[in-house]
Amino acid sequence: MQYRKFEALGIECSLFGIGSMRLPLLKNADGSTDSEKIDEPEAVRIIRYGIDHGVNYIDTAYGYHGGNSERLLGKALADGYRKRIRLATKLPVWLVKTYEDFDRLLEEQLTRLNTDYIDFYLLHALHRESWEKVRDMGILDWLDRKVSSGQIRYPGFSFHDQLPVFKEIIDSYDWKMCQIQLNILDETLQAGVEGLRYAGSKGIPAVIMEPLRGGKLAAASPDILDLWNQAEEKRSPVEWAFRWLYNFPEVSVILSGISTMEQLKDNLRIFEHAQPGCMSSRELDLVKRVKAQYDSKVKVGCTACEYCLPCPNGVSIPVIFGIWNDSSIFGMREEYQNRYRKLITEEKGASSCVACGICEAACPQHIQVIEKLKQADAALRCDP
Ligand SMILES: NC(=O)c1ccc[n+]([C@@H]2O[C@H](COP(=O)([O-])OP(=O)(O)OC[C@H]3O[C@@H](n4cnc5c(N)ncnc54)[C@H](OP(=O)(O)O)[C@@H]3O)[C@@H](O)[C@H]2O)c1
Repeated sequence: MQYRKFEALGIECSLFGIGSMRLPLLKNADGSTDSEKIDEPEAVRIIRYGIDHGVNYIDTAYGYHGGNSERLLGKALADGYRKRIRLATKLPVWLVKTYEDFDRLLEEQLTRLNTDYIDFYLLHALHRESWEKVRDMGILDWLDRKVSSGQIRYPGFSFHDQLPVFKEIIDSYDWKMCQIQLNILDETLQAGVEGLRYAGSKGIPAVIMEPLRGGKLAAASPDILDLWNQAEEKRSPVEWAFRWLYNFPEVSVILSGISTMEQLKDNLRIFEHAQPGCMSSRELDLVKRVKAQYDSKVKVGCTACEYCLPCPNGVSIPVIFGIWNDSSIFGMREEYQNRYRKLITEEKGASSCVACGICEAACPQHIQVIEKLKQADAALRCDP
């Protein structure tokens, strides 16, 4: 296992960190799974095996597995494992209604996790509105108080919005770390590589989430595999995806959700020799070609900036475009059709669009939203 220094904190963390959002699940009688029902003995075995083989950074959050991820970690980290790792969890900012909720939620998390301090305490999934809400409620003073009391060691945040918002948040406080989504497809999405470098320029360590796009990059289609196989040294798509990330010296930890022991062992192997600057220019060029191949399958150039929202008729435009794009890029048609069906039952599908055109006027990408929604609806409702 390779380790990277968190210079300002005087600590070092394993470059590979275990994300506890996709833990192994129990199977119901009909073979289905329920995200709240973790296979606890297997999850404990995986986490402890990871720690015994050098992982010392573990990430969870209040809401993962319906709250059971934190509870599971409380058990997995007993028997002396807690003190061997840096534990990160997150404040569910969307559940905060009053100042007292900051304390209430943290206390609940400490109980679940069976610990009296959190190493990295992150404001979860900040975007402009949630950031402004908790900032105006006094979160920064509260974080200072919790650091003084010792319940929190290092305050940070995880992020899902556009780059300017990321820079604004970075500049607003003495953050000890940040967590961003980054992978070979999302170089310019949200904070992106520019955000990674911006944080680095301020001495703020960056922890990476969704390095495999939630696992989608592992299941490469034959055309993508053909491209990867053009490399002189053969590697799996998973290894390429991780390598591209740990090539950046600004990357401090790469989190990956682990669903099986095989995945953990594979990732431990991949991170054995993970060095910054390891990618040759030919390899970087290959990644560009793979990305271009993925991009060629994109149906609509939506960046999920949400400028089109709120739709007066309640259509979840960026979510629909995201499902449509992913179904085209990753080809798992049934999974995406099911997701779309669920969205239509719970919210409003593309067919609820009344063509008022407000979204088209607002879209910075000049997308013909009305027409594209019709196409998305047709593609996702039935087999093309
Ligand atoms: N703060 C936030 O807003 C936020 C958002 C997202 C994630 N996170 C955190 O970041 C962590 C990492 O994100 P992520 O879980 O999305 O990471 P990821 O690496 O993009 O996806 C993890 C999935 O990739 C697959 N995988 C992992 N290693 C593999 C291997 N060696 N071979 C084949 N497949 C492999 C598994 O999926 P299958 O088993 O399905 O194949 C696994 O569940 C999360 O677990 C969570 O802790 C935070």
